[in-house]
Amino acid sequence: MNLTLDFNNCMINNIGREHGLKLRDIDALQGRAAEIHKNLQARRKTDIGFYNLPYDKKLFKDVLLLSKELTDRFDNLVVLGIGGSSLGGRAVFNGLCHPYHNLLPRDKRKGLRVFFCDNIDPDSFSPLLKTLNLKKTVFNVITKSGGTAETVAQFLVINDLLKKRLGKKYRNHIVITTDPVKGPLRKIAADECFNSLPVPPNVGGRYSVFSAVGLFPSAMAGVDIKKLLAGARQMDETVGASDIWKNPTYMSAILQYLAYQRGKNISVIMPYSNALRDFAEWYIQLWAESLGKRVNLKGEVVNAGTTPIKAIGTTDQHSQLQLYTEGPYDKIITFIEVKKFDNKIPMPRTYKDVDGVGYLGGHTMDELFKAEQLATKIALTKTGRMNYTIAIPEITPFTIGQLLFFFEVQTAFAGGLFEVNPFDQPGVEEGKNLTYGILGKKGYEKAKTKIKDHSKNRDKQYIIG
Ligand code: PA5
Repeated sequence: MNLTLDFNNCMINNIGREHGLKLRDIDALQGRAAEIHKNLQARRKTDIGFYNLPYDKKLFKDVLLLSKELTDRFDNLVVLGIGGSSLGGRAVFNGLCHPYHNLLPRDKRKGLRVFFCDNIDPDSFSPLLKTLNLKKTVFNVITKSGGTAETVAQFLVINDLLKKRLGKKYRNHIVITTDPVKGPLRKIAADECFNSLPVPPNVGGRYSVFSAVGLFPSAMAGVDIKKLLAGARQMDETVGASDIWKNPTYMSAILQYLAYQRGKNISVIMPYSNALRDFAEWYIQLWAESLGKRVNLKGEVVNAGTTPIKAIGTTDQHSQLQLYTEGPYDKIITFIEVKKFDNKIPMPRTYKDVDGVGYLGGHTMDELFKAEQLATKIALTKTGRMNYTIAIPEITPFTIGQLLFFFEVQTAFAGGLFEVNPFDQPGVEEGKNLTYGILGKKGYEKAKTKIKDHSKNRDKQYIIG
């Protein structure tokens, strides 16, 4: 069950001198890689907690127990959370559940129907609440800080609705996932005696997929979280090597970093699999929020970061590929390849005499899928575009666990190469604080002044219509 990394198409012998890497470019980073590795490995015992989650037996047991109990009582799970408190669970759900899971009858799916509500768009939230049978619905409110406005707002609405519809039983319909001790939602969970699960303080939101944040919704959907965690542990063994030639995760980060140094400041992730669509979304947040930083570790202004973009093969061959092959040389493309699909789907030999149709007959749909992926790689390589491939044998809980852990470590390691802190998000906090100011939260009066200043600077000549 090995994941492989093939980066031939980043090297000069394949994409040419102008854009290709030399072996010595990579080897030059071995010393720095060893230092970053040492630092990460030392900190996994203290402030970088995501490494330890796949080994946490108590967490696994608690999640499984609660999910078993609730799966028997409910039909629907609604996950309320945003950013890191939503994307990991979604990636697992999309990756491992039937593509039409929510449409299947109960006896044909392994777990509850699951709905992820990250946005507070009222025109999407309200119709969902009106559609679901609340008696058969449980809500998982996920917020590490316990104070994110979007999630708290959603909680207030559903809490009230449940009370009105179900009376005293409303408590049984809410599970809170938050900090074990601190924060407003922890207090409410304790006061109300809601079921609750912890998010360890040393695990950041976007690194929390193997905590209760990702595990509980996954277990409720019927995902084998034991195998998911086994995959993550196996990947942890692989990434235990400080030698970059033995560590595909570090090598992948190095390719991204060297590409960035050569002006390729867009990082495209391109899985050839619909099941990895939300995985790509998860990666985008992980990469963007971790590496997009104003200052480096020394406090110097660097405005670092590469912009992550999602493309899905083959869909985006018909949308973005033209730009990738002929546009600016500002991208590095990471293909995610799945070697074996569950379904093959032979194409019938009908219309074999019709030009442009007949050649498909006798092939299978997965053959076409793979042919298009190979063709895309060749087209990019021939035009000197850096691209590499991470391949997994098939999509299983184990390989999804591997893949998620791979990218967590890649991002943490890339933080070392880019010399930024990959675990904070000061740019996001500023936006959160301004929102609190607009809505009059106590302690955010200064933010209110900033908002007033901003409103004063509206010049009518730049507003049309
Ligand atoms: O990765 C992060 O830290 C963020 O994306 C958070 O997950 C997001 O802002 C939600 O925060 P919280 O879980 O505190 O509600």
